[in-house]
Amino acid sequence: MTKIVERLDLGEYATFKPNKDLPRHRWFYFKEGFSRHLVDYMIRRFKIGGGDTVLDPFMGVGTTPLTCRELGINTVGVEVSPLFKMVAEAKISDYDIDRLREVSSEIMSRRGRVDLSGQHPLLIKAFPRHNLYDIILYREAIEEIPEARYRNFFYTALVSAANKAGYAFKDGSRVKIVPKKHVPPFKEMFRRTVKTMISDVENLPLKDVEYSLYQGDARRLTMLGDEEIDAVITSPPYLNKIEYTTLYEIEYLLVYGDTRVNPIRSYIGLTFSREDVLELPREYEDLPPGARAYFADLRQAVEEMYRVLRRNGRAAIVIGQGIYPDRIIPSDRILVEIARGIGFREAEIWIVNKRIATRSRTIKIGVAEESIVILRK
Ligand SMILES: C[S@@+](CC[C@H](N)C(=O)[O-])C[C@H]1O[C@@H](n2cnc3c(N)ncnc32)[C@H](O)[C@@H]1O
Repeated sequence: MTKIVERLDLGEYATFKPNKDLPRHRWFYFKEGFSRHLVDYMIRRFKIGGGDTVLDPFMGVGTTPLTCRELGINTVGVEVSPLFKMVAEAKISDYDIDRLREVSSEIMSRRGRVDLSGQHPLLIKAFPRHNLYDIILYREAIEEIPEARYRNFFYTALVSAANKAGYAFKDGSRVKIVPKKHVPPFKEMFRRTVKTMISDVENLPLKDVEYSLYQGDARRLTMLGDEEIDAVITSPPYLNKIEYTTLYEIEYLLVYGDTRVNPIRSYIGLTFSREDVLELPREYEDLPPGARAYFADLRQAVEEMYRVLRRNGRAAIVIGQGIYPDRIIPSDRILVEIARGIGFREAEIWIVNKRIATRSRTIKIGVAEESIVILRK
């Protein structure tokens, strides 16, 4: 039997919102992430301490590794997107304050001519011309920074400041562009962003722990040996929900000048080859093909979590149910079936959020839950 409890008190912790005011965590707003509070809560609950290692195989912008560094716990993070991995790296690194100040004044004193004619049409639409001009000018200066760590820091500042100086906003799973009369000047947004980031570095010292962040695939944790990990705190992409590659297209274009750097095929749920081998209990037999592919991928990731966890190691996996026009697919329940099939001995479901799901805005499909699945190897 799987224990299912309501923990709506943790609902806000399962969102990115509380990170908005926290030093370093606030450098990049990542709506799909969870908060530092959740990581802190699970670490206490699992009685993880110094000398232990916590893994997040879907680390996003690095909330789990950064929290571990704050608390003095060793940590490993894996993320398929080079953009998110870069932001995570920026947030978790140590810096020399004088060097940060030096590089920042080099960037801000940059002058020169920029040719906007070769820019991607989406960027041309997303920013007032003078702001795009300044963004590209600063980007050129950032590209020339010799140390990767400082480049990551200022690229993160660039995308974060650009977000406040354009017409684009993220509306659910798509980017909308709504030209407005008044948009703040990019240069001023950049100056303020950098100032906040430097003061965060000064005010939030991180502990000296072992940490490694990888650009990689949660379904193949080749960088880790068996039983090296004490706990997993993570959240995979949700079924049928977010297309990260289109939602963050502007950020990709700003940093890489291209979206093709993204290894799209390794995003979970986007490969359709393994659905034939996914065995699930009868009640889930009629899942749509996209959902079968998603759970086949998820199973590979959970198999890897099982392999790298030590005996008695714990996992906390935040997952939302899948909303389809005709039904809600209970991803949390299916995840528990998958985990038990792999060998996890204990499983619990904590329901942390409930939302009414509708189609065509008014027709109710059902109540979609977001849960934390708690496992013990
Ligand atoms: C729900 S988000 C996790 C957010 C993270 N916990 C945070 O707070 O920032 C899921 C992440 O998984 C990443 N992802 C998708 N497929 C992946 C794969 N095969 N291997 C590793 N990461 C993957 C996505 O790019 C996204 O950043």
